[in-house]
Formats: sequence, C-alpha cells, structure tokens
Amino acid sequence: MAAERVSVEGLSVSYLSPTGRVDALQDVSFKVHDGEIVTIVGPSGCGKTTLLNAIAGLLSFRKDVLMRGIVHVRDAGSIGYVFQRDALLPWRTVAENVALGLEVRGVPREKRMGIASRFLRMVGLEGYGGKYPHELSAGMRQRVALARALAYDPELILMDEPLGSLDAQTRASLQDEILMVHERTRKTILMVTHDIAEAIILGDRVLVMGGRPGRVNSEYRVELPKPRSSHGSRLEPEFSRLYRAIWDELKEEMRARQTVRQ
Ligand SMILES: Nc1ncnc2c1ncn2[C@@H]1O[C@H](COP(=O)(O)OP(=O)(O)O)[C@@H](O)[C@H]1O
Ligand SMILES: [Mg+2]
Repeated sequence: MAAERVSVEGLSVSYLSPTGRVDALQDVSFKVHDGEIVTIVGPSGCGKTTLLNAIAGLLSFRKDVLMRGIVHVRDAGSIGYVFQRDALLPWRTVAENVALGLEVRGVPREKRMGIASRFLRMVGLEGYGGKYPHELSAGMRQRVALARALAYDPELILMDEPLGSLDAQTRASLQDEILMVHERTRKTILMVTHDIAEAIILGDRVLVMGGRPGRVNSEYRVELPKPRSSHGSRLEPEFSRLYRAIWDELKEEMRARQTVRQ
C-alpha cells in the first residue's frame, strides 16, 4: 500500500462565539494514501468544509476554534485547495490567476506563465490565458481554479464541492477532466461533493459523513474499473450497488436529523 499522505486521528473541532459553542466535528479518523482519490459526501452542516480547512491548516491559528486530536499531512506546505466558490482574483488575467501560487513561490514570470499555459491546456482552456475571470462562464472559472491548484504542483489537492454550481453537462465533462488529470499526475485528492454519483465516479473510496457534530459514519471502497469516465462508470452494476447503499445511508441520516428537530 502507498504511503500515508493525510492522517486524521480523533479530530474534534468546535467553533466558539459570543452566542455559544458549535461542535462541528467529533472524533473523526481516517487516512488518505499517496495517489488516492478519496471523496466525502454528507448532508450540509455535518462539518465537511471544517474538515478540509483543518487539513489545510487554516484552523490551527484561530482563536475562536477549539481543536483536539491529530491532523498530519506529509509535506504540509504542498497543498492545493479548490474552494467551493472559484475564488479567482478579478483584476488578474486567467493566466496570472493560474500562476499565483508560483509567483508566491518566487518562480520568474516567463517560467510561471509557461507553466500556467500548460495547465490551462490540460483543463481545456488553451488560448484563454489573457482573458479576465468575468469574461468566462462559471464552468470555465472552475477549470481555472483547478488549473491553479495543479500548477502549484502540490502533493495534496483539497476540493470543496468544486463542481457544485455547474449544470449536469459541464459537471460530467469536468469529472472526466479530473479523472484524466489524475491518470496523468497521480496526485492525492480529497474532495467533498454533495453528489453521490460524483463521489463514486471519482473516488477510490467514499467516506460518508453525518451527524451533528459531524463524524465519518462509513467508508465504501469503489471497485469500478479504470480508466473511468463520468458516463461509462454510471453504466456499471458496481455503480448502482454503491449508489443505492450510500443513498440509503444518507436517507437514514436525514430521517434521524428530522426526528431530532421535532
Ligand atoms: N465560523 C463558524 N462559526 C460558528 N459555527 C460555524 C462556523 N463555520 C461553520 N460552523 C458550523 O459548523 C458546522 C459545520 O459546518 P461546515 O463545516 O461548513 O459543514 P458542511 O461543509 O458540511 O456544510 C455547522 O453547524 C456550521 O453552522
Ligand atoms: Mg461546506
């Protein structure tokens, strides 16, 4: 088995505010190995974004956040994060956005622009480097965000519902894009999605989260053949089997939640 890239052990996270304390995660443990794609599904509010932020190291310095447990990332300085909203800088061109991380790292302009155009080509945006984010569709902006995360050449890529705002067609084509990029680069990817189908199509393993505070309820290994495609994978019996199992589990979770509220 490949080496561990991410190791989370007994992680609990609470937010403190003047109005009280919100327990967002409780006793979460799992690992992600090098080259794996692990996907996470779970109802909104179960702590998925909190979990990614904890792994990205964005919570450790916050005074209003209480963390217990262990989060370890090998090469913690080498993480790319694709946020739920594309978070591009509007005053920079597409290529300059993609090259942002490289610029921070001190890569000279000519070299970083060369790298940016290579990754723009990889996500199907050749020739768009000189445009500004507002000139692009939502789907194209998400591709730029993906290219930016990849151009930085991180060992680990975190993605928080990166395709959430896209129509089904664009979504499927970006899923194929992610699969192809992964085939080529073998990066380790941890991705949150609210789409069960997407979690199965992309994931080597699917973690199902639930509860308040959130925890990992179960894990499904996805045995779909590779190379995968968004359309092709949906036709496999293994896909339907997993879809039903995960759907049943999430339905149970929603029911439990409604009972608590009544
Ligand atoms: N900055 C914050 N302050 C207080 N509570 C927060 C904060 N961020 C998130 N929460 C709460 O923590 C829980 C988990 O949130 P989040 O991680 O965003 O869940 P998800 O991404 O699964 O929707 C929710 O109950 C949410 O309201
Ligand atoms: Mg979220």
